[in-house]
Amino acid sequence: MNRLISTTLVAFAFAVGAKADGGSIVPGGNWNDTKGAAINAHGGCVQYADGFYYWFGEDRNGMKCNGVSCYRSSDLYSWTRVGLALTPTGTMTDENRDIAKGRTFERPKVVYNATTGKWVMWVHWENGSDYGQAKVCVAQADKIEGPYTLVDVFRPNDHDSRDQTLFLDTDGRAYHICSTNMNTNTNIALLSDDYLTPTATENLQLLGKKYEAASIFKVGDIYYGLFSGCTGWTPNRGRYTYTYDLLGQWVSGNDFKDQDGSTGINFCIDKGKDNTYQSQSAYVFPVQGKDKCFVYMGDRWNSGNVQSSKYIWLPVSIRSGYPAVRWYDSWNLSIFDNMYRYKRVAEVEDGGEYCLLERNSDRVVSRPKSSLSLEDDGESNIFFVFHKTDIPYIYKIEEKATGKYIESLFGSLRFQTEVDKDTQKWVLVLEEDGYYHIQNYSDGACISVSGNETMAGTPVYLNEKDKNIHQSFALYFDSEKHPEYVEADMYSKSYREKNRELMAAQDEAMSIEGISGSQDLYSDIAVADGHVTISGMQGSTVVTVYTVSGVYVAGARGTSVSFDLNPGIYLLRICDKVVKVRIS
Ligand code: GAL
Repeated sequence: MNRLISTTLVAFAFAVGAKADGGSIVPGGNWNDTKGAAINAHGGCVQYADGFYYWFGEDRNGMKCNGVSCYRSSDLYSWTRVGLALTPTGTMTDENRDIAKGRTFERPKVVYNATTGKWVMWVHWENGSDYGQAKVCVAQADKIEGPYTLVDVFRPNDHDSRDQTLFLDTDGRAYHICSTNMNTNTNIALLSDDYLTPTATENLQLLGKKYEAASIFKVGDIYYGLFSGCTGWTPNRGRYTYTYDLLGQWVSGNDFKDQDGSTGINFCIDKGKDNTYQSQSAYVFPVQGKDKCFVYMGDRWNSGNVQSSKYIWLPVSIRSGYPAVRWYDSWNLSIFDNMYRYKRVAEVEDGGEYCLLERNSDRVVSRPKSSLSLEDDGESNIFFVFHKTDIPYIYKIEEKATGKYIESLFGSLRFQTEVDKDTQKWVLVLEEDGYYHIQNYSDGACISVSGNETMAGTPVYLNEKDKNIHQSFALYFDSEKHPEYVEADMYSKSYREKNRELMAAQDEAMSIEGISGSQDLYSDIAVADGHVTISGMQGSTVVTVYTVSGVYVAGARGTSVSFDLNPGIYLLRICDKVVKVRIS
């Protein structure tokens, strides 16, 4: 009891004059060190050693650079200033290879080299008047907090290098990642064994994308990168990449184009996401002792006085398989305790109890009121019992709490008493990353999300009009209720490989064969340029074309139905007759 009281008092003492009050982080707040002075460590990084976190950053006096500062903390809330880890020294020379006072030092990054036993720091270096030098300054130290002594100032492999970071892989290899070619491309270079120079092993990435502020982290076999666009001190929309091979191709959501034409999927999902909650990424670091728990470090720049820029630190979730950063006015490390409570299920089991996690929002389909929406984890999250049908890939989906079944009725999603009708059957169409689009067996409408939005409260509905527009949902289980369920190995490289095989099998099973819904004979089938028209049904019956496994292809109410097919040979079973159709 005594211990409890004294801990509380200490926590309270830290709260005085500080936004990190010994128990929380307030993004954008005034964050003071343990002596009450504003923390001065911008564009930085956090490393962990011997029981302490060390925060390095740009130490600024207004716009001027004082060097690289270092702060220490055991809890991530209260920070004690250690001092300058890299102190400007010497005089400016025309060679531009010095670290004299007056030079610009930005985005310092530090890693430990287990082979040499040294701490290595890379910093973006400029001459102090402009951003034309685009060099790095490399320094090293015996102790994490420094002092760091200069090794050299140079352009890595002769590339212009502005925003830059280091990434230390689990195999001990380290990489330098920088914006290059006037911030047009991103270069990644494997470092020498001592981490002091780049090797010739390098690769240009994200060609023409103008990404900045790279922050790389790894989960399982997946490397994630958070970036900003390139608008100087002004914040813009964040975007992420991922890859299984750092020197190979990085995936950057090419398919997604923002209004300004920039590519990449946003890692922010809440209000304020269009400018990364007014911040620019600096680093992502893991929280000690907590699996898959990371902190996003961003800077809310004050372009006229960098010293007074604020820090935006937020938890990063990758439970969806992709990085998602939510906004919190204030948070503490307990946020991570429940972050991974819902886990992706390895295989859909008959009778399994799952919720639907939507891919882009990292949010769960819920029913706070009568209609469905995406919501944060909580009471309104709906758990469904998945029932296999006798057709592969097709399930009936029962709402656990009410025993009602989801049904597509007159174009909307309803919860109904169970009936043996196709309207209550749902096809799970697998995607490479383990998500499904969920399509109604009867009318082909897909479960979708209004406006492709990501925020809590976004309506979930049936998209009837354009069958190609759907959202992707993965099946998650509550690991507290069902510790016996098997979690998908979703951060492994083999996960996607296995899914690709499963998709091929599903594709095959889905090759077109079957039409149902009409008792009437058709009188004609016409094929032209991949377009199939079956016509002459009597009356205005509902006609639906399925694949062998029952996946919806097309449907119409009326006397004809038409649809497009990719080139191939198809067997169409139409009203008990099998017709062979060749599409070339
Ligand atoms: C940003 C960069 C900052 C700083 C700034 C100067 O693009 O991320 O670190 O260099 O430009 O305008």
